[in-house]
Amino acid sequence: MKAFTILFLVSLATGASCSNTTSPCSIDYLNNALPLNATIISAQSVSAGGSFGEGAADIPFPTNPTNLTATCALIVNVTTSDSSFFRFGLFMPTTTWNERYMTVGNGGFAGGINWLDMGAGLQYGFAVASTDTGHNSSISDLTWALDNPEKQLDFGFRAIHGTTEIAKQLVQQFYNASPKFSYYSGCSTGGRQGIRDAYQFPDDFDGLLVGAPAWWTVRLQPWTTRTGLLNLPATAPNHIGPELFSTIAAEAIRQCDPVDGVTDGIISSPDTCNFDASTLLCSLSNSTACLTAEQVQTVNNIHADYVINGTLAFPGMKIGAESLWVVLLGGSSPNPLGDGYIQNFLLNNASWTADEYTDDIVALADSRDPGNCTIDNFDMSPFRDNGGKVLLYHGLADGLIATGSSNVLYEGVANATGGIDSMDNWFRFFLVPGMGHCTATAVDAPWYFAGANQQASLGTDILSVPGFMDAKHDALLALMDWVENDTAIDTIIATTWENSTDPSSGVKRQRPLCPFPTEAKYDGTGDVNSADSWTCA
Ligand SMILES: *[C@@H]1O[C@H](CO)[C@@H](O)[C@H](O)[C@H]1NC(C)=O
Ligand SMILES: *[C@@H]1O[C@H](CO)[C@@H](O)[C@H](O)[C@H]1NC(C)=O
Ligand SMILES: *[C@@H]1O[C@H](CO)[C@@H](O)[C@H](O)[C@H]1NC(C)=O
Ligand SMILES: *[C@@H]1O[C@H](CO)[C@@H](O)[C@H](O)[C@H]1NC(C)=O
Ligand SMILES: *[C@@H]1O[C@H](CO)[C@@H](O)[C@H](O)[C@H]1NC(C)=O
Ligand SMILES: *[C@@H]1O[C@H](CO)[C@@H](O)[C@H](O)[C@H]1NC(C)=O
Ligand SMILES: *[C@@H]1O[C@H](CO)[C@@H](O)[C@H](O)[C@H]1NC(C)=O
Ligand SMILES: *[C@@H]1O[C@H](CO)[C@@H](O)[C@H](O)[C@H]1NC(C)=O
Ligand SMILES: *[C@@H]1O[C@H](CO)[C@@H](O)[C@H](O)[C@H]1NC(C)=O
Ligand SMILES: *[C@@H]1O[C@H](CO)[C@@H](O)[C@H](O)[C@H]1NC(C)=O
Ligand SMILES: *[C@@H]1O[C@H](CO)[C@@H](O)[C@H](O)[C@H]1NC(C)=O
Repeated sequence: MKAFTILFLVSLATGASCSNTTSPCSIDYLNNALPLNATIISAQSVSAGGSFGEGAADIPFPTNPTNLTATCALIVNVTTSDSSFFRFGLFMPTTTWNERYMTVGNGGFAGGINWLDMGAGLQYGFAVASTDTGHNSSISDLTWALDNPEKQLDFGFRAIHGTTEIAKQLVQQFYNASPKFSYYSGCSTGGRQGIRDAYQFPDDFDGLLVGAPAWWTVRLQPWTTRTGLLNLPATAPNHIGPELFSTIAAEAIRQCDPVDGVTDGIISSPDTCNFDASTLLCSLSNSTACLTAEQVQTVNNIHADYVINGTLAFPGMKIGAESLWVVLLGGSSPNPLGDGYIQNFLLNNASWTADEYTDDIVALADSRDPGNCTIDNFDMSPFRDNGGKVLLYHGLADGLIATGSSNVLYEGVANATGGIDSMDNWFRFFLVPGMGHCTATAVDAPWYFAGANQQASLGTDILSVPGFMDAKHDALLALMDWVENDTAIDTIIATTWENSTDPSSGVKRQRPLCPFPTEAKYDGTGDVNSADSWTCA
């Protein structure tokens, strides 16, 4: 132990590259910790202020984090079957370890290590890992999955669990101490990965920060294709060209923004608004930015729940997401996240085309759940009984994953674990008015609280909420305080800036996010752009 410490300090002091056999940041030293199915591909000491990543070779995450705190950076290869393996990256801070571990997630069907979110976690002092989930591809390329059930399983859950298990063994070896607490942070597919892991492996994490989870894979992917088809083909009379989406968005704001009590351009209570798209009908006096009756019906179809045999197949798009419709509804074919899943996971048939889509696809997906991606068992009581906490959030203006799917998750877990009233003790759900998918806002809504992917959308070296690094403004710090001090999260103050991705432009608005089913209500006095003027009720 003593020799270890001295060598460790010497290597830090000299900043020597850690390739000698005695350094803790070396393949030889760390390999001792690994099971036979794992091999360290590279071990490198990065000094303070440095950068690490794989650049363009990491197709979905080509941007390396910068100005890192000093770290040992590993890439590890793990074999899961004769035809599958995954890699993961691990940062272990050399001088600033906060004695905690974190896994961060991916997005879409991304096959790559999320170095940027790892960089954000490292800045707090976490030992932090991310996996490529077992393949090498962009977010929307799913061809790797064709006829490859083993790779599908790595993506579904094996890579996240295996990464977490093996990374903790490396942490133990490197620091000669196990992490005091373990966290997870991810959004979209990243959100799915964390909660999917926790119900099957309740010991992996103490706290989950879960954004806009793609948890209902067997429904979400078919819904993605089916939603695109609602607006296709582009020659059909009901087709709405993407140039009209901003007109529809503006009309939704006109009708539905005031319903929540404050006219600020942000739709905060979409479910209480009876949006009437027929106000956009073309008339003799106005035939420019307007809709035909068939197009009005398309708007209504997009907002409507997808119902099969009288039951909910997947929720519709919320009022307020229209300015982000382009992702699912703006192309000449449906989004590949839907079609690619049906071709490469579900049917293993690359010749299938979206014009063959029927509701039977949903029934087939339900029965197969290729890759075991879906959360089909809501009973998270083993995780809860371990002291685990979940902070779930979802943008109310999400145009990629219908926000209501998080309500279904929340309700499903509540039903399976003792009812809504018991949820407050361990699982809280925050809707984020005006936020799109995981990050960003089209309506200057406060959207930033250091959730997954958020730091990366401000820069490559961002720590927490610039200027507000505390548990009131930073959802990860709030989660840690809940897990470690039992301080329940009653609100999280979200922030946006004059330029919504540039903190140096000055704070524009801050507002509390509220635990479901409460909503932020303006007190009636005081600056509407100040969080102090709002109460959760
Ligand atoms: C991923 O595949 C591309 C080729 O499509 C290659 O250039 C790149 O190096 C690969 N990345 C990794 C991390 O293996
Ligand atoms: C790099 O991060 C350190 C804190 O770790 C900070 O003091 C310094 O200002 C940062 N440098 C730049 C160029 O942002
Ligand atoms: C990882 O291990 C597999 C064997 O399971 C091997 O085929 C593959 O080349 C290795 N990958 C790297 C990047 O070393
Ligand atoms: C690697 O091997 C260990 C020991 O046999 C096993 O417990 C673990 O599940 C394996 N990990 C993966 C990701 O297959
Ligand atoms: C025409 O209708 C659109 C949509 O309601 C509206 O945005 C636009 O201002 C109207 N133009 C005129 C000249 O009234
Ligand atoms: C693949 O899909 C195409 C198009 O639907 C169909 O003609 C073909 O029979 C399918 N192939 C198999 C093996 O099912
Ligand atoms: C709807 O009902 C039909 C007829 O009973 C059945 O074949 C189909 O699988 C059902 N669809 C779903 C998605 O359950
Ligand atoms: C996938 O899920 C099915 C059905 O729940 C289960 O039988 C199977 O064992 C799972 N596969 C793996 C590798 O966990
Ligand atoms: C939860 O239970 C309620 C009451 O029985 C039911 O209406 C609702 O559909 C259930 N929700 C889910 C997601 O299971
Ligand atoms: C727990 O509470 C103590 C005392 O208030 C505080 O110093 C510490 O930062 C809290 N821990 C976390 C993880 O928030
Ligand atoms: C907002 O800030 C971002 C990031 O600093 C910058 O790229 C962008 O150009 C800015 N937008 C405007 C409208 O100034």
